[in-house]
Amino acid sequence: MADISEIQTIEHDVVVIGAGGAGLRAAIECSERGKNTGLVCKSLLGKAHTVMAEGGMAAALANVDHRDHWKVHFRDTMRGGKFLNQWRMAELHAQQAPDRTNELEEWGAVFDRTPNGLISQRNFGGHRYPRLAHVGDRTGLEMIRTLQDYGIHQGFQVHMECTALNLLQDGGRIAGVLAYWRESGRFVIFKAKAVILATGGGGKAWRVTSNSWEYTGDGLAMAYLAGAELMDMEFVQFHPTGMVWPPSVRGTLVTEGVRGDGGVLLNKNNERFMFNYIPERFADETADSEQEANRWLEGDRSARRPPELLTRDVVARAIVAEVQAGRGSPHGGVFLDIASRRPAEFIKKKLPSMYHQFKELAEVDITSQPMEVGPTVHYFMGGIRVDAETQSSTLPGLFACGECAAGLHGANRLGGNSLSDLLVFGRLAGLGAADYVDKLKSMPQIDSDQASQGIKQATDVLNRQTGKNPYLIHEDLQEMMSKQVGIVRQEEDLKQALKELERIHKDVAEVKAHGASQYNPGWHEALDLRNLMIVAEATARACLERQESRGAHTRLDYPGERDEGVSFNVIVRKSERGMEVCREQRSAPPAELERIAHLSIEALEAEVDQEARNA
Ligand code: FUM
Repeated sequence: MADISEIQTIEHDVVVIGAGGAGLRAAIECSERGKNTGLVCKSLLGKAHTVMAEGGMAAALANVDHRDHWKVHFRDTMRGGKFLNQWRMAELHAQQAPDRTNELEEWGAVFDRTPNGLISQRNFGGHRYPRLAHVGDRTGLEMIRTLQDYGIHQGFQVHMECTALNLLQDGGRIAGVLAYWRESGRFVIFKAKAVILATGGGGKAWRVTSNSWEYTGDGLAMAYLAGAELMDMEFVQFHPTGMVWPPSVRGTLVTEGVRGDGGVLLNKNNERFMFNYIPERFADETADSEQEANRWLEGDRSARRPPELLTRDVVARAIVAEVQAGRGSPHGGVFLDIASRRPAEFIKKKLPSMYHQFKELAEVDITSQPMEVGPTVHYFMGGIRVDAETQSSTLPGLFACGECAAGLHGANRLGGNSLSDLLVFGRLAGLGAADYVDKLKSMPQIDSDQASQGIKQATDVLNRQTGKNPYLIHEDLQEMMSKQVGIVRQEEDLKQALKELERIHKDVAEVKAHGASQYNPGWHEALDLRNLMIVAEATARACLERQESRGAHTRLDYPGERDEGVSFNVIVRKSERGMEVCREQRSAPPAELERIAHLSIEALEAEVDQEARNA
């Protein structure tokens, strides 16, 4: 066992792991509360999946449509999440998103403007009004730039290219994190009173994904291994529009902003097929003819929204159905056309990244040709179970926010709700951790056995004489997950997935990275496998447990929502017998929130209007 007195140790009050929008916002809050804060990022600062939320951040600012209100945003979020959202989180999110957006602007974010100088807002799927504050199609990038520029002056210390391996505990509460520097391969212990996980999801367990190499479920796996609970892991969002061609860029995101700004989906027969897939629940808000959809796009608010702006789960499934029926595009997707709907100048101004992305990567000019698109794994709605107000996990001293935390989005996330989620709950996690630290009576101590055990596990991968290739194991896992735990699921496939995971587990136990620990991407890949496997198993088991179709979770053998489905969450936890999965009854929703969520849109609009008159 390694002698940990030789290992570099850095002490902070709070360590935040992950430097996307949520991690940065949490670190800012902790620093502002006077806590000595460290921000650990696997990659370079500024490189985060947050930039993949291109089209905007959802907040009921009511700049473009004066009728918008937090209550309408809340109702949209609950309906989009198929009522499985954590009620209080959805309320806090809708109420606080406008303040967080304005704060971001005060910190330097340069949003697009309305003609009268307000932050401009665009349409997105499932949102009743134009609600997404945006910066062209680079909103996530602008958010990261702003938080980084502002945050760097708040005094937190940034530890870049550093991968967290294991959470360390002292008597059942957090004591720190074991990590390693990717460049030198040396280990480091971060001693801390509280840890905030903001590590995003685990899309890299699938082959076609918008996620980049960092998204291997690290926070989810570390939390699970430390004894925290995971919740609703069956809900993995397939963004309807990723690139499908050429193969080198398959899965790269094509922002929903294209549809928000008027783009339409067509099959190979040039049919606008989304009219055929309007679910009952959204029928009263969705146009059922081309004429009505066009009137809406031209600004007629008495018309209903185009069906391309239905929620992501619905659009993704419709695309799969078209392809399966033989009406897909040449490379297995469908067409997304904005060229015939909007002038070239408009497209270049509002969607500059999409214009360049297609021109450079696919040799397609989107101002004159349609794009080929198809579903891509984008986002985990499930994750670490947290308390709504503090973002505290079930393990004392461990907090989580952003994509790695469960609850806000229920069974399906509305586009644009992630960026506002990061700011609202990043801040609350920072507050929660700072309060926890203030109340802590004694500094937790590092248990040297836990740390040296973690170091041994990591170095075994280098030290064994022979073994399996980590890249091939990863590919094997991705193929299997794409096939057996894809956009539509059924018992037979899920059981097969669990069998295959057992087989892949054996390979992971024998994984070998060649070379030394310095600059060794093969070793990094091998270490990520443990986390990917946990995420994959938790997802497959949760999928099996939920015997209904709801939001992003579609079971061929259990079509449609079941009444009882809304009454439980699926909880995953570690037990002596291995991974344990169970249903847990949800508590009754607060009556007022339930009333708002179930009001007809006309009644809610009238109520909000009346409130405004009385104010
Ligand atoms: O389509 C997009 O721009 C992605 C946004 C999101 O995931 O929120």
